[in-house]
Amino acid sequence: MSKFPEGFIWGAATAGHQVEGDNVNSDTWFAEHTTPTLFKEPSGKACNSYVLWREDIDLAKSLNFNSYRFSIEWARIQPVEGEFDEKELAHYEAIIDYCLELGLEPIVTLNHFTSPHWFAKLGSWINPVSAELFATYVTKVMQRYGSKLKHVVTLNEPNLPPLLTWVHMPEFVYELTAANLKAASEKAGVDNYRLSNVVRKDEFDAMGDGLEAAHIAARKAIRAAAPNVKLGLSIAIVDDRVVGDDSSLRDRKREEVYGRWLRLAKDDDFIGVQNYESVYYDGEHAIEPGPDVPRNGMGSAIDPTALEGAVRYAYEQAGVPVYVTEHGLSTTDDTQRAAFIKPALDGLQNAIADGVEVLGYTHWSLLDNFEWIFGYGPKFGLFDVNFETFERTAKPSAGVLAEIVKNNAV
Ligand code: BGC
Repeated sequence: MSKFPEGFIWGAATAGHQVEGDNVNSDTWFAEHTTPTLFKEPSGKACNSYVLWREDIDLAKSLNFNSYRFSIEWARIQPVEGEFDEKELAHYEAIIDYCLELGLEPIVTLNHFTSPHWFAKLGSWINPVSAELFATYVTKVMQRYGSKLKHVVTLNEPNLPPLLTWVHMPEFVYELTAANLKAASEKAGVDNYRLSNVVRKDEFDAMGDGLEAAHIAARKAIRAAAPNVKLGLSIAIVDDRVVGDDSSLRDRKREEVYGRWLRLAKDDDFIGVQNYESVYYDGEHAIEPGPDVPRNGMGSAIDPTALEGAVRYAYEQAGVPVYVTEHGLSTTDDTQRAAFIKPALDGLQNAIADGVEVLGYTHWSLLDNFEWIFGYGPKFGLFDVNFETFERTAKPSAGVLAEIVKNNAV
């Protein structure tokens, strides 16, 4: 058995909008309830975690974890511009306190795609005032909870839009995106209703610029309000591999999708890596997996070795410790997930043995949940959720991960 470093952070993640339910003051709720909408179905009560959060933390504890990653919903904390809701601040503080009581480090994500409705009405991250607005919220939250936190994630996957340009998307998706935003703008009575998980192709760069500015402003705000907290941003990293000797296409993808974020992370305390897959490129194309290769629910090959590659790449480029803030598998067949976890962690061990600094591993996700535009179809959870009774049931994969965590070894 090879041991993980002492103090290695083990956990699973959730995100507010995907589990809490009734996130009614958020941009995403509004976009879900606009016609036409890109969302397959509305989030509704999600996993009812706004009510059942204690139970969720108990579940994390039951798997021997020493951390729990969740996000704070900005739309709850600041439902109206300029106003903070004391009841909601207390709500998230109770979550943090309960984690600490059970010996779990609360890992807070400050923005996991969703923002307040009022912020979307202003044009979201495309509006130059957005960084300052975000920093005001971050300051409030960090002044309140900073002394109880050790690691904070500012933004979740700000690089998702450029990553999606590398995935073949049918044109109607972009048409529906534009139509959803147009209808939301009309419904809200503004020129440009915008949100970071429904993004027009022609605005990918502007969104990226705004999110980069927001991260820089948040970094400053966190360091001022809570200097002991370690901060980073989380980006989606595919393990991009080359077949043959022409790496030009792969290298171009890396620069377009991760380049600016990995450079930005050089001034952070860690880089959050979120990996779900690998893709092979020759000099001209992405290469489709063979017909016999099992695929995940996202359509790419099931490849547990992808995590190691993504982690090594992030560390080489950013030069700061890596924190695996998400890793998982979209599958309705949990035997695939149960078989996937150990080889992925073997790979992570290889990287650590070669000197890559890795702070911890977070599985996505604790629960089956609301998978954004795809609704409730895809399953990533270690726990199954009955969406009528909200009963949670451990899947066999949860036991596999719990055993590894108990031994701090694979
Ligand atoms: C996101 C999660 C999402 C997961 C699976 C990541 O892109 O951070 O919110 O549910 O991947 O698609």
